[in-house]
Amino acid sequence: MDLTTPETTPDTAPATPSGTGPDRAAPLKLAVILSSNREGRFGPVIADWFLSRAAEREDFTVELIDLADADLPTVLSYNPGPAVRAELAKVSPKLADADAFVVLTPEYNHSFPAALKNLIDWHFTQWQAKPVGFVSYGGISGGLRAVEQLRQVFAEMHAVTVRDTVSFHHAGAHFDAEGRHKDPAACDAAAKTMLDQLAWWGHALRIAKSSHPYAG
Ligand SMILES: Cc1cc2nc3c(=O)[nH]c(=O)nc-3n(C[C@H](O)[C@H](O)[C@H](O)COP(=O)(O)O)c2cc1C
Repeated sequence: MDLTTPETTPDTAPATPSGTGPDRAAPLKLAVILSSNREGRFGPVIADWFLSRAAEREDFTVELIDLADADLPTVLSYNPGPAVRAELAKVSPKLADADAFVVLTPEYNHSFPAALKNLIDWHFTQWQAKPVGFVSYGGISGGLRAVEQLRQVFAEMHAVTVRDTVSFHHAGAHFDAEGRHKDPAACDAAAKTMLDQLAWWGHALRIAKSSHPYAG
């Protein structure tokens, strides 16, 4: 559900064709959230790198949610008009459909972008009982303070944040003019660790939800 739609069905994983439970081998649907919508943003460079890493995995199918493509108002409503519903339609079904999330976040003034908080606040059950991983970037902080704040927010959403993250300090200096990382071994390894943890939690929660719908 989002802020405007009461939930009527439990959040359960699809059954196998035989009806015996979730298909443990089915790839997890991973929604990658690009949370900077700033003019002149660096975020797409980070997104391109991460999407290239995620595309190599057979245990995920990947969809990008770019917050620059959705214009959600900061005025929350339980009864939004058609224009706001049209914006929600760009993001809410993708969030609901996802088995797992990776949030790409810069750090703004020791926190994360307002557009990301707004996306989180417009939704609720879409986050529940799902794992969340982080790729952060910024200046000297590498976005780590933004990530620590996001862990608190996602706990309130009944989401599970995975321990290991990918962090780019002084991000711009590490990529060339074509957006390629100059020395990707460490960040590629960090992405693998984070995605491995995300896959474990994603599969574990899928199986758990198939037998015990999350009660909230
Ligand atoms: C308003 C604003 C505040 C920022 N605050 C921080 C900060 O607190 N710590 C930090 O390490 N970098 C900070 N930065 C640097 C950004 O994290 C860095 O420029 C990053 O690339 C921004 O992501 P974006 O270009 O995708 O929006 C700030 C940048 C902006 C625009």
